[in-house]
Amino acid sequence: MQVIMIEKLRKWVFSLQGKFIIVASTCIFIFTTVGSFLIISREESLYKRDIVNQGNVLSEISRLTLTNVMVYNELGMMDRLDLIDYLDYFIINLMERDKRIRYVAIFNDSGLVLASSDDSEYGKTHDIYTDECMNAALANLKTRIVDERFHNEPILKITVPLNIGTKCWGIIRINLSTKEVRESISSFKNEITKLVIFFSVISLLIISIGAKVLARPVSKLSKIMDSIKTHGDLEQQFPAVKDRRDEIGELQKSFLWMLQRLREADREHKKTIEVLSQTEKMVAIGRLAAGVAHEINNPLSGMTLCFKNLMEADVDHLTREKLVMAINDGLQKIKNIVGHLLDFSRMTVTEKTPVDLNNLINRLLVLLNYSASKKNIEIIKDLSGGISEILIDENKMSQVFMNIMINAVQAMDDGGRLTIRTRADDGFCVVSIADTGGGIAPDIMSHIFDPFFTTKGIGEGTGLGLSVSKGIVEQHGGTIEVDSEIGAGTTFKIKLPLV
Ligand SMILES: Nc1ncnc2c1ncn2[C@@H]1O[C@H](COP(=O)(O)OP(=O)(O)O)[C@@H](O)[C@H]1O
Ligand SMILES: [Mg+2]
Repeated sequence: MQVIMIEKLRKWVFSLQGKFIIVASTCIFIFTTVGSFLIISREESLYKRDIVNQGNVLSEISRLTLTNVMVYNELGMMDRLDLIDYLDYFIINLMERDKRIRYVAIFNDSGLVLASSDDSEYGKTHDIYTDECMNAALANLKTRIVDERFHNEPILKITVPLNIGTKCWGIIRINLSTKEVRESISSFKNEITKLVIFFSVISLLIISIGAKVLARPVSKLSKIMDSIKTHGDLEQQFPAVKDRRDEIGELQKSFLWMLQRLREADREHKKTIEVLSQTEKMVAIGRLAAGVAHEINNPLSGMTLCFKNLMEADVDHLTREKLVMAINDGLQKIKNIVGHLLDFSRMTVTEKTPVDLNNLINRLLVLLNYSASKKNIEIIKDLSGGISEILIDENKMSQVFMNIMINAVQAMDDGGRLTIRTRADDGFCVVSIADTGGGIAPDIMSHIFDPFFTTKGIGEGTGLGLSVSKGIVEQHGGTIEVDSEIGAGTTFKIKLPLV
């Protein structure tokens, strides 16, 4: 089950449609991810810049207001209590105006807390020289703004020196919450992500439909090809393909044209095989007829003798009956042989019927018997009981077996063994015809199936036997294999589909 699924997936990945969808969706994924990343980071930096600007404005206003107050205090225009009151008022006012401010504290230049939004800090000293931001602000008298967390909340920690020129009175620290900004950024991120997913799904759907529509005619053509490949039948009817004006339409036209040409060539080829097979058959019949004549002669002489005896007047009833039976036997024998010969020579179109293969081989061997025994050849039959009927054209396949058996007999000059085996093997039926003749030389092996290739003298061979046989076997969806060893013999294996 899993293997089938993996195989299907592999097929889809390597199909035109699969490749197109994968490439297009990868592109969409990359572009939308990069695009949304750029948009989000730009928006994020804008938001951040905005809040830092606000922090800057806040720090500048605070610095200006507070340095004035510090100067008044120094000039004695304001006593210390007034100063503290003012600073408290300033802090409350500031925090009321901007709700994002979480903490404000004002320190003098030695770190004493003058005023703070956190009451518990009053009068305490802060070691401003070890606080990195304060220390830096004091050293170069510049505002410092850093991102930090305060009571578990993201903030901008703003540290402002209260100075005029090089004179510095202290430091003000403001913690400005960036929670809202961060929330806006993350909700913006969410919206963008949802939008990207939505559009990706929509475009994937459109791409899949588009790919299917585009690939459909191509896969239709490939199905037709597949069907030809598996059935080997060019004449079968195929589903009609729609006319198109694009490149696929051109491909369809070329494909159908090619198919038409193939059909014509195939018909020509079949016709040629038909003609050639007829020629070879006539030669084989001539060759067989000589043998058959001899086979018929034997019973004929016997019958003539019986007939003469019958004609004699003093034959008793019992002998007469025996003689009549003997004549009848002889006639049956002759009828049998002539019947096989006629079967073999009959001209027919290819017509597959269920045939008992072993029986067919037995009948053919009757025809071959004489030529074989004359050359002192022993015929060994090893016919498998496991083969029931197979679907073949009986006449044509008879011709194939006969051609190969005659070749075998011809290959054995002074005696030998002709072994005929039938076996069922992996959905095929294998007929092997082995001789102990001279074998086939390796240099002519590649030519023996060529039409008119023969090593035999005039009147002996036409060179058509194997070429015709190969054509017929292929028409049946089968194969012929040869295995030969010089001096040891040759084996032909004919494989035919069992169903
Ligand atoms: N059993 C065999 N032993 C040796 N040679 C063979 C055998 N079968 C075929 N051949 C070779 O293949 C050639 C082609 O065979 P075939 O097509 O039947 O034509 P032909 O029998 O008319 O020569 C033969 O001439 C012969 O050289
Ligand atoms: Mg031959």
